[in-house]
Amino acid sequence: MTPAPVVATEDLTKIYRHQVAVDHLTFSVNEGEIFGFLGPNGAGKTTTLLMLLGLTEPTGGRARILGIDPAREPIKVKARVGYLQENMGFYSDLTARQMLRFVAELNGIGRQAAEARIDNALTEVGLADEGPPKKIAAFSRGMRQRLGIAELLIRDARVAFLDEPTLGLDPDATQRISDLIQRLAREQRMTILLSSHQLHQVQKICDRVGIMIKGRMVANGPIDQLAREKFGVDREEFTLEEIYMKYFLEG
Ligand SMILES: Nc1ncnc2c1ncn2[C@@H]1O[C@H](COP(=O)(O)OP(=O)(O)OP(=O)(O)O)[C@@H](O)[C@H]1O
Ligand SMILES: [Mg+2]
Repeated sequence: MTPAPVVATEDLTKIYRHQVAVDHLTFSVNEGEIFGFLGPNGAGKTTTLLMLLGLTEPTGGRARILGIDPAREPIKVKARVGYLQENMGFYSDLTARQMLRFVAELNGIGRQAAEARIDNALTEVGLADEGPPKKIAAFSRGMRQRLGIAELLIRDARVAFLDEPTLGLDPDATQRISDLIQRLAREQRMTILLSSHQLHQVQKICDRVGIMIKGRMVANGPIDQLAREKFGVDREEFTLEEIYMKYFLEG
């Protein structure tokens, strides 16, 4: 028997006034999978993530995260899911370590265990060798993204929704974050929904991609399968960007 998917939606729909943002969306993501959630600006990706987190109510259909309905039990869902937003709002007056101590405390992790975990998380994301401690207010964009991932590690989230995690990062930081995302999936079986326009990165790390256009998922599968569907050959010949553009132009 195959295990139940960690993230699942069925006919999930969101209508803002007269604007259909998400239109009968049905898809699922399995444990330990890295799912690339793609689509043009305004396709409905962020709206979908907000419904999955219980931050906005669906107009129709249903969603389940680890078997929990986010519309009914949003707090339970938020305790198990990490959400890395584009603009991470942190307590700017703290250092990274102080912020992570706070997160550990909120999650009921004891002091000693917390320090070990914080050391490990800061090393993992490459924030350990930053010299004298800096307040988060003085963090660069890349440092904030890394801190967001460190927070996921401290909380031991089972599921992570990453909205553009490497946007604006330098090549080295992008590589580090990509490697880290892959390790979280492989070693900790974390389930990852990665929304990004950086298709080159997506192609390297995602097991499967979904392409959303105008609220509907027009493609869903491993990249080589999508290449076959659109071009009749597999991914050796085509980049994800070429495949994406073909779906995009054909609607
Ligand atoms: N609070 C809101 N009220 C009204 N319309 C909204 C609201 N939030 C989003 N929309 C609309 O819903 C549609 C989907 O937006 P959404 O933010 O989900 O797109 P997206 O795929 O995340 O795009 P991007 O790649 O630009 O982040 C858009 O047409 C947007 O204008
Ligand atoms: Mg968005």
